[in-house]
Amino acid sequence: MKRMHWKLLAPLGAVALLLLVAANLTPDTNSGLGIWTEEMFVKTMRTGKHMGAGRDILPPMPWQSLNALNDEDLKAIYAFLRTVPPVSNRVPAPLPPSGQQLSLE
Ligand code: HEM
Repeated sequence: MKRMHWKLLAPLGAVALLLLVAANLTPDTNSGLGIWTEEMFVKTMRTGKHMGAGRDILPPMPWQSLNALNDEDLKAIYAFLRTVPPVSNRVPAPLPPSGQQLSLE
């Protein structure tokens, strides 16, 4: 690659990336949505908050788009997710860019 191209790309190197792992949506009690009620699930899709009231759910989880679904559709997704066999798999918490703090309040 020509030198000019590296100059263009250099600033990207300074942008440390946030590492996110998608959630375990199976009904596993300890690592999935096992203890989530239907109300919590719907509220999460409406507010973008963990369990409808906790920390902000980070991108790329498209809750703003899923928010366009009506309650009946969201309840249908919740009902489907309850039918999936539970998988015990605790996914790692979001990893912030190096040297930065990530508030997961
Ligand atoms: C119907 C489709 C979807 C449903 C029902 C759904 C449901 C959920 C739920 C309930 C959570 C929160 C879990 C928790 O707080 O413990 C979550 C998190 C997440 N979702 Fe989705 N999701 C959907 C689609 C997607 C798509 C399309 C993507 C990515 C392209 C995605 C990426 C993520 C990520 C990365 C997280 C973790 C975010 C964080 O830890 O802050 N999801 N999802």
